[in-house]
Amino acid sequence: VAAVSGKTPGRGEGFVAWIEGLPCSGKTTLSRAVADRLRAADFEVEVLDGDEVRHMFSPELGFSRKDREFHARRVSYVARMLARHGVAVLVAMITPYETSRQAARSTVGGRFDEVWLRCPVEVCRKRDARGLYRASTATGGTRVTGVDDPFEEPLNPDLIVDTSGETAERSAQRILDHLVERGLLPAGVRV
Ligand SMILES: Nc1ncnc2c1ncn2[C@@H]1O[C@H](COP(=O)(O)OP(=O)(O)OP(=O)(O)O)[C@@H](O)[C@H]1O
Ligand SMILES: [Mg+2]
Repeated sequence: VAAVSGKTPGRGEGFVAWIEGLPCSGKTTLSRAVADRLRAADFEVEVLDGDEVRHMFSPELGFSRKDREFHARRVSYVARMLARHGVAVLVAMITPYETSRQAARSTVGGRFDEVWLRCPVEVCRKRDARGLYRASTATGGTRVTGVDDPFEEPLNPDLIVDTSGETAERSAQRILDHLVERGLLPAGVRV
């Protein structure tokens, strides 16, 4: 069948990889790395990344438990819609509450993968790619998840990646391999 647009048709069914963890655990870095690899293999990909998405979807919401849960619901709903049309969706969100993770899983259904980037808070603090931790200790004004606000330990992640002791390339490869193992990426695909 000739592709009308001349564009490579989507490869197989979509899915949602929900990448969670503390600030500076590596969500942005790894969602981008995985996205690049998937695009190079001709997948349709969208990254829904924390603050950027919040700015567009939920500018009126704050960081209370209720607001965070509501925001996560909005994101999971859109992620499901994209996945339904064959898109590989990478969500990069702290997601501190187990209720949000479970809600996202049940919204998306079977083609959902929960990836917890487990990284000790001391390592995250040392990295401090965006100066958040510094702002928290310096002024007491910025609330940081895992320091000033809770981050509940994930109870049911499909994959745990310890990003504290390996390169981002290695961690990205782990996620890709896992997606193949779970059948979310077609077997035999080279990513
Ligand atoms: N294995 C690894 N995986 C991911 N990032 C790593 C790894 N090792 C070191 N890093 C570094 O850790 C930092 C992670 O920052 P990143 O912005 O990706 O975190 P984040 O989880 O998106 O934080 P935030 O919640 O503030 O958006 C980067 O500077 C990255 O280079
Ligand atoms: Mg980020």
